[in-house]
Amino acid sequence: MLMASKLTPTLITWLILPSCLLIFLYSMLLTLYTAPRSHSSNSKNQILAPPKCNLLKGHWVFDPNHKPMYNSTCPFHRNSWNCIKNQRENMSRINSWKWVPEQCDLNRVDPVRFLGLMRNRNIGFVGDSLNENFLVSFLCVLRVADAGAKKWKRKGAWSGAYFPKFNVTVAYHRAVLLAKYEWRSQQLLLSDKDGVKGTFRVDTDIPADDWANIADFYDVLVFNTGHWWHYDKFPKEMSLVFFEGGKPIHPPLEMLDGFKVVLENMVAHIEKVFPKRMLKFWRLQSPRHFHGGDWNQNGSCLFDKPLEELQ
Ligand SMILES: *[C@@H]1O[C@H](CO)[C@@H](O)[C@H](O)[C@H]1NC(C)=O
Ligand SMILES: *[C@@H]1O[C@H](CO)[C@@H](O)[C@H](O)[C@H]1NC(C)=O
Ligand SMILES: *[C@@H]1O[C@H](CO)[C@@H](O)[C@H](O)[C@H]1NC(C)=O
Ligand SMILES: *[C@@H]1O[C@H](CO)[C@@H](O)[C@H](O)[C@H]1NC(C)=O
Repeated sequence: MLMASKLTPTLITWLILPSCLLIFLYSMLLTLYTAPRSHSSNSKNQILAPPKCNLLKGHWVFDPNHKPMYNSTCPFHRNSWNCIKNQRENMSRINSWKWVPEQCDLNRVDPVRFLGLMRNRNIGFVGDSLNENFLVSFLCVLRVADAGAKKWKRKGAWSGAYFPKFNVTVAYHRAVLLAKYEWRSQQLLLSDKDGVKGTFRVDTDIPADDWANIADFYDVLVFNTGHWWHYDKFPKEMSLVFFEGGKPIHPPLEMLDGFKVVLENMVAHIEKVFPKRMLKFWRLQSPRHFHGGDWNQNGSCLFDKPLEELQ
């Protein structure tokens, strides 16, 4: 998309940091929740008790010995997003942060054990570039357990990987608003407001085509949306117009109210259409932290430490 091609590696590296670090949290949760489905009762699996504390309550700790599990040879990066290969400045410092929960230990993800637990299962990510970044670090971490991992692509799935040793597919479907939306230029519209180039029709109750038919394929679904609900993505002259049941919602909704309706409808859709046995995660956002301007206004990311709690 437009956005990605304009971004320089420096601009987007801030996305990689939270992704790399969150992956450990996420993987841990995933492992814990899938554990009951394992029929084996050996001591390894008994370690997988429910978390003894709130893993989300904690802080970042700087540990110079903390290194990523992968290097620049990981084939799942898009080239311009590969901070290690592009030698982004201060990368080793950025990679030295680790998340430490307040009340209990959080071990690093063990890719062999994780993929072993996920054997014959598939994991799907749906949403915006935060999920995409998450996916890339996840694939690179998992690849450590299976050197035969290869790129996987199907119609509709932006990208992913297949891990033949474990028969596991992990893939991403780009759907920045989750709901279906399409551009309608001004000529098609009846009203003729000054400066309006057109609108985006958002069908709040219809999932975007990219993930419309994936319900039977995945065992785990990680979905998100957030950063696109912003006027820098959809300015006033190209605004979102919300539809439900094929008809415009009256009175028209502001962007954030539309966001709420979309989210409610997408969650209802997932609950109705996706199997009960599927493990579903709603992924939260990390804050934007460009410095000296937004992503398209000469902003850059000079930070090499996480934001403070109240920043
Ligand atoms: C990079 O990682 C691959 C796969 O884990 C490994 O085989 C290779 O030796 C590593 N290369 C470097 C330069 O560390
Ligand atoms: C691989 O996993 C899929 C489910 O994702 C299953 O249908 C298929 O039978 C598995 N293949 C093998 C060889 O076990
Ligand atoms: C970004 O920097 C370029 C070159 O310095 C300048 O021409 C342009 O006006 C700047 N754009 C913004 C939005 O500040
Ligand atoms: C790298 O770190 C140094 C020292 O903290 C800092 O001055 C510099 O701006 C950083 N570079 C980038 C690109 O973040």
